Amino acid sequence: MSSLEDLELKDKRVLVRVDFNVPLDKRGEIIDDTRIKAALPTIQYLLERGARVILMSHLGRPKGKVVDELRLDPVASHLSGLLKRKVTKCDDCIGDKVKVVVAAMQSGDVVLLENLRFHPEEEKNDPGFAAELASLADYYVNDAFGTAHRAHASTAGVADYIPGVPGFLMGKEVKMLRRVLESPEKPRVAVIGGAKVSDKLELVKNLLNMADSIIIGGGMANTFLKAQGCNIGKSICEDSLLDTAREILDRAGEQQVQILLPVDVVAADSLAGDAESRVVKVDQIPDDWMILDIGPETTDLFGEVIRDARTVIWNGPMGVYEYEKFARGTEGVAQAAAESEGISVVGGGDSLATIYRLGLEDKMTHISTGGGATLEFLEGKKLPGVASCGGYQQMVEAR
Ligand code: 3PG
Repeated sequence: MSSLEDLELKDKRVLVRVDFNVPLDKRGEIIDDTRIKAALPTIQYLLERGARVILMSHLGRPKGKVVDELRLDPVASHLSGLLKRKVTKCDDCIGDKVKVVVAAMQSGDVVLLENLRFHPEEEKNDPGFAAELASLADYYVNDAFGTAHRAHASTAGVADYIPGVPGFLMGKEVKMLRRVLESPEKPRVAVIGGAKVSDKLELVKNLLNMADSIIIGGGMANTFLKAQGCNIGKSICEDSLLDTAREILDRAGEQQVQILLPVDVVAADSLAGDAESRVVKVDQIPDDWMILDIGPETTDLFGEVIRDARTVIWNGPMGVYEYEKFARGTEGVAQAAAESEGISVVGGGDSLATIYRLGLEDKMTHISTGGGATLEFLEGKKLPGVASCGGYQQMVEAR
């Protein structure tokens, strides 16, 4: 079996790994539902063929503990609205109560398990935990492209216990991103932002081998600015990674890759929508203030490089875009990517939220549901979540 079409689905219990790790606002409401909508073709296909659909996902990084704000209830009710049918939400992802709910499922029923990362075993790819998840179903479908760069129990381990195939979203992402890999027109510009600094620094290192220019904004940039000797005040920063940032800057010089960092920023006295804020040069950030967006001069500078690129890969916001006054930098980058005439690939929930809010989705070559996964794929890495569903190759070629 290599694709969904190979499965006899009537009455079968199908465990589907989706990536419902969607951005939430301070009230816990979904800011952008792209990832939920992107999983609908697979879910609907299964339902139309009479399967019993058991969905599983992570949300955020609860680090192996139950965090009430990261429960999947808002996702379940949103999904129910999209599917126009009941979605039964479990309060755990394994255990007796879950088994009872699953045993009572009828053909066409949908169950959403609780956040997988409430269990530390998920991220450890624990075989016992993977086997417990697998015991719920006859088949496994991996449609979580956004999490395909993680070798976790639900993205990789489960496939050791029940037959697995990729979902339609997984196939579509792989197909689109392959096209980008196969025709990477120059100049190639990677735009990296967001706050997942420790994850992304390694990616930036690898991007030195494929990009002509790397633009760094958002929380990521602070570590680089500090590494260059700037006083960044109270801004978030990974002090333990300053040497890695310096190494990247040195290697960029050797490999003749241009690294662009902010030259001015919007600094504020607190992380709040009504904080006092002003635009300052990066060498004039007050000690007790923090960087919450790139400044207008930087937005213009980044925009110019992005507009001139033939291939743009963008992942991660330039500032705390959830607050209007710190959203200008991210919006500027989104506009520039939309105006560039070459290939543009945007990934990551936060970047997508801005693209959709500005109505720029049709101007992009590919809107990817992956953030880190997309970047790793474009570096040519083998993603564990893609590898776990063996038949993706045929699926990519067939659709
Ligand atoms: C993402 O948002 O990139 C994916 O959902 C993976 O999340 P993670 O970086 O917390 O593993």
